[in-house]
Amino acid sequence: MSDTTQEQRNAFENIFSAEAARWHFHDTKDPLIRYVRDRRLHLALDAVRKLAGGSIESLSVLLVCGGVGGEATFFANHGFSDVTNTDFSENALDVCRHRDERLKIRLLNAENMDLEDLSYDLVVVQDGLHHLPRPALGLNEMIRVARKAVIVLEPHTGWVAKAIGTDWERHGNAVNFVYRWNLESFRQLILSQLLDSPKSIRVIRLWDHNSVIHKIASKFGSGSLGIFIAKSIYACLAPINAFGNNFIGILWKTP
Ligand SMILES: C[S@@+](CC[C@H](N)C(=O)[O-])C[C@H]1O[C@@H](n2cnc3c(N)ncnc32)[C@H](O)[C@@H]1O
Repeated sequence: MSDTTQEQRNAFENIFSAEAARWHFHDTKDPLIRYVRDRRLHLALDAVRKLAGGSIESLSVLLVCGGVGGEATFFANHGFSDVTNTDFSENALDVCRHRDERLKIRLLNAENMDLEDLSYDLVVVQDGLHHLPRPALGLNEMIRVARKAVIVLEPHTGWVAKAIGTDWERHGNAVNFVYRWNLESFRQLILSQLLDSPKSIRVIRLWDHNSVIHKIASKFGSGSLGIFIAKSIYACLAPINAFGNNFIGILWKTP
């Protein structure tokens, strides 16, 4: 493990040593929180279903940089029965173990996963690659261990991000550059690894900021009115999704 990765790990161990109640938003059934938190995952799953041409719930799922397991729980709640959450923080995985007994757990460094090639059907990361000192290496690893598909939910590069986005994130002594993706960087990295094997690549660019949208919409309650407001904000932003701050990248390895 490189020194930079070790520093990141120490910082995240600290963050995840906080009391478990702090991660309650991963489990709450509050409809507005669920809507804003799960929106990108729903969009990604819909896109994968289209590429698969049908049901995907029988696929085994590996979550990379999964923290306390919020995304893993999302998959378990949506009919996936074989879901493994991974992270390099033992504290995060400890919280995960207590949070959701349905999940399998593995301590893994995303840049160098101790896993066989093609060992999980669907390999997913949300807001994790940009914490790595070598984000491309993280994606290379995901592609290597994925049998059928990879889903990447990360920041999208663009002029808005350049103008007002955070370039450097600091957690304690650890610092990381916020690496942002786009169709071209995603496509080139995939092609350089998989060469001309059959595959489909999809990218969705969109606006998404769950905490800000939640703050505004929750003023109208967390029921149907709050959700209506949140959906309306995203509907207003949809015509300018081409400038959006978020990236959903999907690789489908066609058999
Ligand atoms: C911002 S959190 C996101 C957690 C989760 N995906 C979510 O959205 O709730 C980033 C996660 O990446 C993990 N992480 C950072 N570097 C890692 C690495 N090299 N290997 C595995 N996990 C790593 C951290 O421990 C942390 O859980």
